[in-house]
Amino acid sequence: MQSHNAVIRLPRGRLSETTPWDARVAAWDELAASPVFTRLAAQVLELASPRADEVVADLGAGTGLLSLPAARSAAAVYAVDYSEPMLERLSQRAMADGLENVHTVVADMREVPLEDECASVVVSSYAFHHLRDEGKALALAEARRILRPGGRLVVCDMMFSLSLASRDRRIVGSMILGVARKGPAGIVRLARNAGRIAAGRWEHPASPESWRDLLEARYFVDIDVTLAESEAGIAFARRPEVREQ
Ligand SMILES: C[S@@+](CC[C@H](N)C(=O)[O-])C[C@H]1O[C@@H](n2cnc3c(N)ncnc32)[C@H](O)[C@@H]1O
Repeated sequence: MQSHNAVIRLPRGRLSETTPWDARVAAWDELAASPVFTRLAAQVLELASPRADEVVADLGAGTGLLSLPAARSAAAVYAVDYSEPMLERLSQRAMADGLENVHTVVADMREVPLEDECASVVVSSYAFHHLRDEGKALALAEARRILRPGGRLVVCDMMFSLSLASRDRRIVGSMILGVARKGPAGIVRLARNAGRIAAGRWEHPASPESWRDLLEARYFVDIDVTLAESEAGIAFARRPEVREQ
């Protein structure tokens, strides 16, 4: 196990030079401190319940919403994110809080440079919807690979689809209203997002049913997907105790 806030990276050339998140550190930090995100993070951490001898990996860790509180109870946390500026902010916060067991990993969550079975717990918050289904499957395969047998996975994310089901219609309706209330800039954003949806370039939230399927397809067990507030859902699963051949 690394000591004192190590930085681990994917080899150069395997990551893009910049990510869309590099310029959004302050804005995200503010949003992540909102009551909704604070409550969702508390739910994830309660389900994950990292113990003092356990190692946690946080995929798409951002500025540390899950990593920092997890580090207070776990032996160590690997905060994985492809945006170096996000991780720099996370490191600054860890140092300010006197946490020396948070290691940042500059990497794509579809290719995580951590050893097999190095973690007892993998968590993630609001990162998977940036990946299409194939990307989600790759990141879940990585989560399973780095988890020890019996290890726990807890993922919180937007969980809905663009369907006519009443929860989906309510979520999409309130998102449209929220953006439209921002006036002309909001209307422009709505139009841009409509274009992105039509071109398949919008974010990629998945329904709770799709999450169950994705986890089953990656041979996770004890799968439980619950709806949370707003558009969120939380998926819990375990890597089986018995190693596959
Ligand atoms: C919405 S923020 C959530 C951050 C944090 N988990 C939280 O809940 O506050 C999404 C994060 O996922 C990261 N991310 C998006 N796609 C990624 C990928 N393919 N690999 C690694 N990180 C990714 C972004 O850089 C960003 O920090």
